Parts: sequence; C-alpha cells; structure tokens
Amino acid sequence: MKTLITPTNIEKKLNSNDFIVSKTDNKGIITYCNQIFISMSGYSEQELIGKQHNIIRHPDMPRAVFFLLWQTLQLGKEFFGYVKNMRKDGGFYWVYANITPRLPVKKKLGYYSVRRAPRQEMIDVVSPLYAQMLAKEQQVGAKDAINASTLILENKLAELDISYEEFSRDY
Ligand SMILES: Cc1cc2nc3c(=O)[nH]c(=O)nc-3n(C[C@H](O)[C@H](O)[C@H](O)COP(=O)(O)O)c2cc1C
Repeated sequence: MKTLITPTNIEKKLNSNDFIVSKTDNKGIITYCNQIFISMSGYSEQELIGKQHNIIRHPDMPRAVFFLLWQTLQLGKEFFGYVKNMRKDGGFYWVYANITPRLPVKKKLGYYSVRRAPRQEMIDVVSPLYAQMLAKEQQVGAKDAINASTLILENKLAELDISYEEFSRDY
C-alpha cells in the first residue's frame, strides 16, 4: 500500500557519473536496487524490495508516459524516457531512463532499468510538456486521458520534427 506523501519543490540532483539501477518482476515489483537508488529515493532497501515501482511515482508525471513505457516493454522493446520521481521525503529527482525486458524476452523474466541524469535542456523541454499533458488528462477524465495526452506529445514531436525515438535519445 502507498502512504500519502506531500510533494515538495526540493530537487535532489543525480550526480553526472551516477547510475540508478533496479530490476523488477513482470508486474513491476522491485526485486533489486543499487545503492544510488536507495540514496536518491530516500527509502531503505527493505522498504523498496517487494514494492511496486510506482512507490517513487511523482504526481506531476502524466499517465500517458507510463502507458507508453508498458506498451513498449510488452512488445519486447526497450523504453527510453524522462521521468520525474518522488523521494520518500516528498522531494523530486529527474532521470533519463532506459528500461529493458530481461533477456531472453520470451522467458518473461521481468525488467531491468538504468538511469542517469538528463541534460538540463531536456528537462526544460519535458517539464512544461508533461505539465500540459497532465492538465489535459485531468481535464478530459480517466477514460480519454491517455489518448488526449498522447496527442499533445505527438503534436510536440511534430513541432520539433522528430520521432519519439529521437526525442528520447538524450545523447
Ligand atoms: C524496470 C522498471 C522501472 C521503472 N522505473 C520507474 C521509475 O523510476 N519511476 C516511476 O514512476 N515508474 C517507474 N516504472 C513504472 C511503474 O511500474 C509504474 O507503472 C508507474 O510508476 C506508474 O504507476 P501507476 O501505474 O500506479 O500509475 C518502472 C517500471 C519498470 C518495469
């Protein structure tokens, strides 16, 4: 069960040479986390293992991003994207995430994720975009949220004239 945490505006930046690593089962239950995950999230290892990965979900994140994440993984592909996470103390940290099905895909062994610090230029683009997507999700209601929000993402990509793949490759 998730305890209610009040989000704060206090950001904890991930060091440029640090990686956050976690593994989950097929349902997104955490089975492994590294030390950087523990210190960035503010939870202990015991608090993280066996919990749903949404334990660090930030309320500023649009649902459409997680829909895309799970859709991509279920196709056996790897997902790249920008995620704002919430710490146990309510603070936040941005990550540039790569999530992959553990190999071999057909064995359905679960998922593996590595994250590093995104470039500030990308956060400057993604942060207002996600805010717009979230506002739309709240405006249209649960049934139409994903479609309406995904459309905003697609429009942004069209405006930038790039694919999601290019947008989410934070070289
Ligand atoms: C390997 C793996 C890593 C994940 N990492 C994160 C993460 O860092 N932050 C996050 O909010 N969700 C992450 N997710 C997605 C969550 O499982 C969940 O779908 C998301 O937090 C949305 O929560 P909700 O479906 O309860 O709304 C990850 C999923 C997997 C499989």
